[in-house]
Amino acid sequence: MPLAPTPPAQRPIRSMLFVPADSERKLEKSTSLPADALVFDLEDSVLPARKSVARQMLQRFLPAYSGTGQAWIRVNDLESGELLKDLAAVVPLAPVGIVLPKIRGPEDLELVSHWLDMAEAMSGVESGSIRIIAVATETPEAVLRMADLAQISCPRLLGLIWGAEDLSSALGADDPRTATGAWRQTYEFARVQALLAAHALGIQAIDTVYVDFRNPEGCAANCWDARYDGFTGKVAIHPSQVPIINDAFSPSPEQIAYAQRVIAAFEQGEGAVSLDGKMLDIPHLKFARKILSQLT
Ligand code: COA
Ligand code: MG
Repeated sequence: MPLAPTPPAQRPIRSMLFVPADSERKLEKSTSLPADALVFDLEDSVLPARKSVARQMLQRFLPAYSGTGQAWIRVNDLESGELLKDLAAVVPLAPVGIVLPKIRGPEDLELVSHWLDMAEAMSGVESGSIRIIAVATETPEAVLRMADLAQISCPRLLGLIWGAEDLSSALGADDPRTATGAWRQTYEFARVQALLAAHALGIQAIDTVYVDFRNPEGCAANCWDARYDGFTGKVAIHPSQVPIINDAFSPSPEQIAYAQRVIAAFEQGEGAVSLDGKMLDIPHLKFARKILSQLT
């Protein structure tokens, strides 16, 4: 009997472009860009004195937003004293979700999820509709407690981003990369922890920013590394990175054709088959289905 097909999963976000929310020009530009998600930023790209202006600019901009990318908002962290003001301002705008930076452990997500319950109820936004993507490696506590995070039950949680810059700042350390551009051990550890936690939770694993934004070849190589390691998408900071990321995280025509051949090879109902002289079993079938699910 043929193996039962699995329903297609929704395609993960490939590119997440951060857009400083207090920049009129960048907000304007963002509406024409092909990023899967735009993250209007109220946090680290906005100076403390500009937080309130940035919130007001988003309140004007988002109701008229007509771009094709999902609208997300990065809010400030729990210790900033700005988070409640951010939520009060942005929940009524019903973004697809918020990016929550500098979490320290699963309790932070539970608390913010409750605050979203309240803010949605107060603003007439559908209950539970605003999703969360957490930045999971910006504090030492969060990295040490990643196994706890991997146990969380939080229906709002859509993905984890990993980041190195804030962790290095928390450690009082310098550049997180070695002279060759590779991550120093501490950050590689954090990266792998976040990757595994995201997959343990069955949510999206989003790779950190490639800061050298005038180097397209370096960005492409960095994207391929991330994809082969199991990340489903990547943060962008400049419009020029968006098509590079979209391309790297989309299946190639060769991969699609091969996946279709793998699925066809399993149609007789055998669990192990041969294709092009190689043995294929169920993990290969699952991977082929995953490739094709990214087309929808
Ligand atoms: N979102 C939307 N538009 C952007 C953009 C972004 N992140 N970055 C640049 N642009 C726009 C610029 O406004 C410019 O368009 P314009 O001429 O119509 O104004 C165009 O793209 C080219 O920009 P460019 O001159 O090459 O870059 P820049 O020197 O103005 O800005 C950065 C460089 C890095 C400061 C800018 O890309 C940026 O702000 N990135 C996001 C930073 C951020 O959010 N960091 C926190 C998350 S890690
Ligand atoms: Mg930061």
